[in-house]
Amino acid sequence: MKLLFVFVSIFSIANLSSRNVLASPHYFNVLHYGATGNDETDDSQAFLKAWKDVCEATKGIPTLHVPLGKSYLLNPLTFQGPCKSKQVNIQLRGTLVAPKKGAWPTDKKDKWIEFHDIDGLTINGGGQIDGQGSSWWEDCETHCERPTALFFHNCNGFLLRDMKHVNSGRNHISINACNNVMVSNIHIIAPEASPNTDGIDIARSTNVFIQKSFMATGDDCVAINNGSSNINIVGITCGPGHGISIGSLGADGQYNVVEDVHVRNCFFKGAQNGVRIKTWEGGYGYARNITFEKITLMNTRNPIIIDQYYTTSASSRKNKVINIKVSDVTYREVHGTSANENAITLNCSRARCTNILMDNVNIRTSTPGEEAKAFCQNVEGKVDRAVPSVPCLSKFD
Ligand SMILES: *[C@@H]1O[C@H](CO)[C@@H](O)[C@H](O)[C@H]1NC(C)=O
Ligand SMILES: *[C@@H]1O[C@H](CO)[C@@H](O)[C@H](O)[C@H]1NC(C)=O
Ligand SMILES: *[C@@H]1O[C@H](CO)[C@@H](O)[C@H](O)[C@H]1NC(C)=O
Repeated sequence: MKLLFVFVSIFSIANLSSRNVLASPHYFNVLHYGATGNDETDDSQAFLKAWKDVCEATKGIPTLHVPLGKSYLLNPLTFQGPCKSKQVNIQLRGTLVAPKKGAWPTDKKDKWIEFHDIDGLTINGGGQIDGQGSSWWEDCETHCERPTALFFHNCNGFLLRDMKHVNSGRNHISINACNNVMVSNIHIIAPEASPNTDGIDIARSTNVFIQKSFMATGDDCVAINNGSSNINIVGITCGPGHGISIGSLGADGQYNVVEDVHVRNCFFKGAQNGVRIKTWEGGYGYARNITFEKITLMNTRNPIIIDQYYTTSASSRKNKVINIKVSDVTYREVHGTSANENAITLNCSRARCTNILMDNVNIRTSTPGEEAKAFCQNVEGKVDRAVPSVPCLSKFD
């Protein structure tokens, strides 16, 4: 009887592990498809050939394997889905390198590596993605055409983890029209003076979780743009850079909406902004239900800022009364030091910001002897313990 039980147990363990074998990685190594990894030869065709097999595979978890210790030059390319397997993996151990501006092979310069319509994609492996941005930054003011390093479009159930992203020509990662995204343990690094090299830009996406990551790019660490909701940002170290931003929203008179954003346990150091909401005059729509909680700031120029006068476009000048409606914004346990006298700026338009709540906010200036100040206009809301005091908010009852 006992023996039978042991036998049955072994049988079921064996059965289980054979199921695990089915779900274990099924590797497609780019070196077997002609990639050289010599840092000079264009390896993009080899990657695309390997990807085709990954995407058509049905056994286990089809895995594009990019071996360690090599550097793969990739011309701009698109990893296209949908794939046959519900889950696919890009295991990136080596380094991907973008062509420099002078060697860019096409007229289309806005994106480097694109991922389209892939469900259940995981990218991990501890490798590095190098956009070779300096060749793009050199003779570039803020608005010349430059590539986003990684662009994810319509990738649902997407996981990006344990990666290093450096020196993108423009923003490092765009998450566009994706649902259920997890980004965890990534490092994004570019020089402080590099122009518009945001960390992660999110647009038209829902259920996005960004956690335990380090971003120092000189621009926005995370920017949350139109059509995004249920965005959670937890445990980010940000700076130098422009902080975590909602927007800018409402550029050129557009209808833009963002809601249900929760930013918590984030640390800002030497950043130009901490937590920011920025909108253009003349746009319409809303930014609402946004919570910034357990935020620590060190020597940040604008620790808390709502700027509804971010930029004024020609069309908006005619239409100044209209602006994005900002409401239900909570700042809770926000502590640290400001490099500016104005530690809190709530510069709202005549559309008014409503239900702005501050609970346990304490920001001092980093200049000894200088008093921190708060500026606010067109704001309604409540406060419980704020230093500096915010005159336009009323006390909680
Ligand atoms: C912004 O997003 C909303 C909701 O997804 C959409 O209806 C609207 O068209 C978008 N605005 C622009 C300018 O794309
Ligand atoms: C506000 O957003 C959070 C996510 O950050 C969500 O859980 C909550 O349900 C939203 N509240 C309302 C009233 O929509
Ligand atoms: C608020 O916005 C107005 C209009 O653009 C600007 O003149 C003013 O300097 C801003 N105030 C602060 C404190 O940022």
